[in-house]
Amino acid sequence: MNYAVRSLGLGSTPMIGFDADAALREFGLTKDEVSVMLLPVEAQRPGNWPQKPRRPVADVLDLV
Ligand SMILES: Cc1cc2nc3c(=O)[nH]c(=O)nc-3n(C[C@H](O)[C@H](O)[C@H](O)COP(=O)(O)O)c2cc1C
Repeated sequence: MNYAVRSLGLGSTPMIGFDADAALREFGLTKDEVSVMLLPVEAQRPGNWPQKPRRPVADVLDLV
């Protein structure tokens, strides 16, 4: 879904860090429905880039 949205020129990124109780209220979910992830979708800001910079793998991972 994230890639599909971006292919349309919109900005999107998955989020698991959110107020689950607020999401339940805002989206009118029932008590037995649980939001596990939000996928915000919006127009990209000018200057946005599709993938943020990454450190080289060797800087963040030690293979043992
Ligand atoms: C399943 C999943 C959940 C994520 N949840 C959060 C989140 O709650 N908050 C956050 O700042 N980034 C979250 N991220 C990271 C961002 O979605 C995003 O990957 C990151 O900002 C780097 O952006 P880029 O992948 O476009 O380079 C999550 C990523 C994944 C795959």
